[in-house]
Amino acid sequence: MEQFSIKTGHLSNEIKQEANTQLFPEVCKAKEHLLKGDAAGNDFLGWVNLPEEIDQKELARLKADVERLAGKSKVFVVIGIGGSYLGARMVIEALQSEFASMVRGARPYIVYAGHTLSEDYYSQLLNLLDHEDYSVAVISKSGTTTEPAVAFRIVKAHLEKKYGKAEAAQRIIAITDAHKGALHTIAVQEGYPMYVIPDNVGGRFSVLTPVGLLPIAMAGYDIDRLLEGARDMRRVCIEKDTLEENPAMMYAAIRNVLYRKGIKVEMLVSSLPNLRYLAEWWKQLYGESEGKEHKGLLPHSLSITTDLHSMGQYVQDGERLMMETMIHVKHPATHVPVPTDEQNLDGINYLVNKSLTEINDCAMEGTIEAHVAGGVPVVGIEIERVDEYTLGQLIYFFEFACGISGYTLGVNPFDQPGVEAYKKNMFRLLGKPGF
Ligand code: PA5
Repeated sequence: MEQFSIKTGHLSNEIKQEANTQLFPEVCKAKEHLLKGDAAGNDFLGWVNLPEEIDQKELARLKADVERLAGKSKVFVVIGIGGSYLGARMVIEALQSEFASMVRGARPYIVYAGHTLSEDYYSQLLNLLDHEDYSVAVISKSGTTTEPAVAFRIVKAHLEKKYGKAEAAQRIIAITDAHKGALHTIAVQEGYPMYVIPDNVGGRFSVLTPVGLLPIAMAGYDIDRLLEGARDMRRVCIEKDTLEENPAMMYAAIRNVLYRKGIKVEMLVSSLPNLRYLAEWWKQLYGESEGKEHKGLLPHSLSITTDLHSMGQYVQDGERLMMETMIHVKHPATHVPVPTDEQNLDGINYLVNKSLTEINDCAMEGTIEAHVAGGVPVVGIEIERVDEYTLGQLIYFFEFACGISGYTLGVNPFDQPGVEAYKKNMFRLLGKPGF
């Protein structure tokens, strides 16, 4: 496996020792539950073997559908929310240019819907779709979630008006349950190509199913490498039994030690703006898995150096609530020199022999030193670069660590009873029959 490591050098010896002694047996037990499937939520463990068990025939069908639609679409609309949205967006935003544009791209430009109910958002989206050739993936495991259902109704009507019903049906792909749900019924009736989200894979663990793979392939990224990275990380997570050798066990142990010592917030920190959706995906994964029974670290995120000029003050000097998990990427994909300026009026000629990455790394190292001195425990995750392989590693690592961490915390990491409360109120307020 390519280098992937957890850096504990900035943690106190006390924390490391507690992780290795008190927490170690609990983390081993939690890992055993994941592998034996003998604890709460065990009907949602399909993700554990997903990268190994992926159906190659289905993958080939998916790739063929992607190429068929890519050939006739400038824009690809991905409709979904939560686990049916964040994984694909995380990978695509990590890999695409910050300045990607639908006009010049060789691949369809991915836009998102169903993750918001903003009227202006949909009006702007329809304006775009008026002028560009497009196709659609509608993704919902339950097939009944209101936000994507509303978005799909709007986009489907637009698509059918623009291309006619028959061609529209060729431009829609449904990703949903194998047998049930309103989306399944619509897809069967209209004859849309369909992909299945396995019963035993929950939304936030579904990025390595067609939920994530189809949009990622549509954007032009290598889903085989993504799966390879996940497969390699799976092997390590399953086969290695010490904290030193198993990054998922180490991460789960450290965050539980810190939680028991009164830490309430974990901030995922990166110095690369293209990883902001990694943080959004991670927030859902950990927030929805652990935030139960009035327990769990609150997942939060920082982008440095941007947020050092806003949240930095609080992290340095505010209430001592938080730990930080710093993601460090060793190699950038490209280089941009800092030019020499003879006059040096801005006083930064001392930087000209350094790469921007060296400067960014010094900002991160300086931040770690300052925050540790300020009483914030910091743990690091280091990866070689940002590409499909390392994103696959990160996905599997965070998922496996989340399962271990949730069981160690004493909750069922695979349900989400709390997300129903707002829905009931919304349905009552909207006058939905039966509410
Ligand atoms: O992780 C989860 O289970 C949720 O975030 C769901 O993914 C989200 O609510 C969307 O559900 P569905 O795919 O059924 O539309």
